[in-house]
Amino acid sequence: AFNGLAITPQMGWNTWNAFSCDIDERLILETAQTIVELGFKDLGYHYVVIDDCWSAGRNSTGHLQPDPNKFPNGMDFLSDKLHSMGLGMGMYSDAGSLTCARFEGSLGHEQIDAQTFASWGVDYLKYDNCFNEGQSGTPLITYNRYKTMATALNATGRPILYSICNWGEDYPWKWAQTVGNSWRMSGDIFDTFDKPDARCPCTGEDAFECQLPGWHCSMMNILNKVALFPEKGVPGAWNDMDMLEVGNGGMTDDEYVVHFSMWAALKSPLIMGNDLRKVNAQTLSILSNPAVLAVSQDPLSSPAFQRWRYYVGDKDEYGQGEIQMWSGDLSGGDMLVVLLNAGDKNRNMNATLADIFWDHGPGGTATQVKQAWDVYDLWANRVDNATANAIIAAAKANTTAPDNALPFGYNATAN
Ligand code: DGJ
Repeated sequence: AFNGLAITPQMGWNTWNAFSCDIDERLILETAQTIVELGFKDLGYHYVVIDDCWSAGRNSTGHLQPDPNKFPNGMDFLSDKLHSMGLGMGMYSDAGSLTCARFEGSLGHEQIDAQTFASWGVDYLKYDNCFNEGQSGTPLITYNRYKTMATALNATGRPILYSICNWGEDYPWKWAQTVGNSWRMSGDIFDTFDKPDARCPCTGEDAFECQLPGWHCSMMNILNKVALFPEKGVPGAWNDMDMLEVGNGGMTDDEYVVHFSMWAALKSPLIMGNDLRKVNAQTLSILSNPAVLAVSQDPLSSPAFQRWRYYVGDKDEYGQGEIQMWSGDLSGGDMLVVLLNAGDKNRNMNATLADIFWDHGPGGTATQVKQAWDVYDLWANRVDNATANAIIAAAKANTTAPDNALPFGYNATAN
């Protein structure tokens, strides 16, 4: 919480996943309007973030300037518009000589660029890692590179949420808590459930290659990566599992439910990445689930932990057949339980109190926890808050529990 921002994980929208470099002022304004009209703003989706490809380099005084064809009225105009709608303005730069799309970077220009962003009324900076001139490879040198921009942002006096995009390359979860509000911990997400993009050489869900820049990774790749260090996410400083693909069409709606559930349970930033102007009812319903959003924004801010993970039945090279159980603390003494069926087959799943509360009692037993619980299914019941004892069913296939699997046996109705 070095700058007091992102006390709960930041929420918003970003251009990159759906639009790549095909961005302009009209897209930003239409999206912002849609965020307000569809109720996303009232649900907490606050930041509208312009990713790579906005720039026209530096002017004669060394200041960054926007591409006049894409942003003819300038960035201060755009931030005024967003602010008048009650939204925050996010922008992008790179801790290198160039951005990943080869526009001007901020390495060596941190002070002037931070001042430019502040003068434009920017509230959020995503800061990428391409073309870093060899200033990488150890946590310390990378820390220094990102810290320089953090210091420059703070010196502007404007509160600017600082989103570090280091892809996990130099283990940012070990050093970024005091520097940034979130840090990417993997290569780029790709709109696929558990099959890496052809450009990604990894076939195992934990393959190291999936952390490296340029590799596009499946939703399950990223989940299984952050499973190793969920506790690094604390108020003001979060593991960033990358922007959401919900609504982009590469997964089924059930798979998007898994994606959204796990990003909320792990306290990742929730940054939508789809074309909101064309959102359909299913996508709207997933991104707007108030109970799951309440888990994400729960004031206790405790990420869920993976209690067990294993394969049942057939397992192919992409880890199909995998099931997992996660649990975590919610405010008010409640518990979050996630039954994740990542396989294509129907499964019986249940979780014992000893599993759910394994770190709450001596020896990991459930002797100190109460034995009777009300259970709310956050996808089926749509309770309006998550202060009740909560369960998220994150099921790709139909998931049932036998009758004797109480107290947390669960009958999911995913198709
Ligand atoms: C790499 C990042 O990981 C992506 O999220 C995106 O910002 C692109 N760079 C933009 O070039």
